[in-house]
Amino acid sequence: MITMEKIVSLSKRRGFIFPACDIYGGLANAYSYGPYGVELKNNIKKLWWEMFVHQREDIVGIDGPIMLNPKLWEASGHTTGFNDAMVDCKKCKKRFRADHLVQEATGKDMEGELEVMTKVLKEQEVKCPECGTSDWTEVRNFNMMFKTKMNGVDGDIYLRPETAGAIFVEFKNIIDSMRIKLPFGIAQIGKAFRNEIVAGNFIFRTREFEQMEIEYFINPKVKWEPLFKKWLKLQEEFTIALGANKKDLRYYEHPQEKLSHYSKKTVDIEYKFPFGFSELFGLAHRGDFDLSQHSKFSNTKLDYLDAETNERFIPHVLEPTFGVDRALLVALLSAYHEEKTKDGVRIVMKFPKKLAPVKVAIFPLLRNKPKLVKKAKEIFNDLKEDFVCEFDDNGNIGKRYRRQDEIGTPYCLTVDFDSLDKEDVTVRDRDTMKQERIKIKELKDYLKDKL
Ligand code: GAP
Repeated sequence: MITMEKIVSLSKRRGFIFPACDIYGGLANAYSYGPYGVELKNNIKKLWWEMFVHQREDIVGIDGPIMLNPKLWEASGHTTGFNDAMVDCKKCKKRFRADHLVQEATGKDMEGELEVMTKVLKEQEVKCPECGTSDWTEVRNFNMMFKTKMNGVDGDIYLRPETAGAIFVEFKNIIDSMRIKLPFGIAQIGKAFRNEIVAGNFIFRTREFEQMEIEYFINPKVKWEPLFKKWLKLQEEFTIALGANKKDLRYYEHPQEKLSHYSKKTVDIEYKFPFGFSELFGLAHRGDFDLSQHSKFSNTKLDYLDAETNERFIPHVLEPTFGVDRALLVALLSAYHEEKTKDGVRIVMKFPKKLAPVKVAIFPLLRNKPKLVKKAKEIFNDLKEDFVCEFDDNGNIGKRYRRQDEIGTPYCLTVDFDSLDKEDVTVRDRDTMKQERIKIKELKDYLKDKL
């Protein structure tokens, strides 16, 4: 069975993800991506950008700042409304998400109902998960945006709590500078920050994370339901491309009474994590709320002129949103395999080849035979022009295979004594462990074909 412990342990052991600032005692829920983690993360972002920007004529990309004009967050409602309900244990002083405690105790979603939640915690004597007592403060709202100061700017500014804001404020620049017609989308990948009350679960919920978001603008008169369906399908396709199994996905549609007044429909794409089904990605119909609000607060017209009908209107928007870190967690969980072999259990990360951090590993059979090392180095230098490669001459071949299996390298090449005469190498396949001899001059084409 795959557990979070196994993923956390492999991530640290093999250089995917480390708890950040370990030498200073860490910082709660902050993680650093190690050498293989950053490759995997870049490959996930590249896959997304290819699928949603490069492969499409109707979506363009941007890269906006993390710190934006604070008026933007007033317009979007974040300064007043971007809150989590929190409650403190009076005994151990730990802080928790009140809605999560109440949901666990009652099975009911009481998000936003502060007084009711205070009552439930008290009357049902819900126990503190940390110290086991039941002595709670009142449930209060807690704004999740991080504040800071900027030279030359009066008042507070914020680290963006989502990338979407930076997209809406460039709507006018995009329609003025690009020859683009509705329906069209603007995509962005970048960091977001939320002062979350975090309950562990590794990189699932952190205070600093990355999002990949698209604002897809449509004419308010078009039928949006088929487009909404199409976007959900695309989000599912992307999740499958991460290596996920369709049976581990399910959809949660937010009930009408919980929807924001401007939203026609919001669906969470949930994944079966080891700690239960939880939100992976989301899709929301946000109406014209964002453009209307930014138009009002900035005194700038953010409408669209339909050249064919000569009509001016504020477009509606569909917002498919993806968390990079959650995507990466799904890639790790889906790739993790334990297989019984004659030498014991083999741990192998069966990443889709496109996502594998290293594509090819090149080994000389023995590190103390200069001719083998020279030949292997020549092959490494040639292949690294086209593929992310790793040269490894450390330990016996079995150990080297094990290391590469655990980082998910699809192909390992071994240069042995025969290679010197016959100009060929052994190529070992990660998934089947089958080996075949391939001529050195044919290696590039062979690998291009496979990867
Ligand atoms: N613009 C819409 C928006 O931000 P969201 O559901 O709050 O919607 C979108 O966030 C996605 O960002 C989530 O589906 C999740 O993948 C990711 N995400 C949100 N909060 C996160 C956190 N604290 N840590 C890691 N990922 C997070």
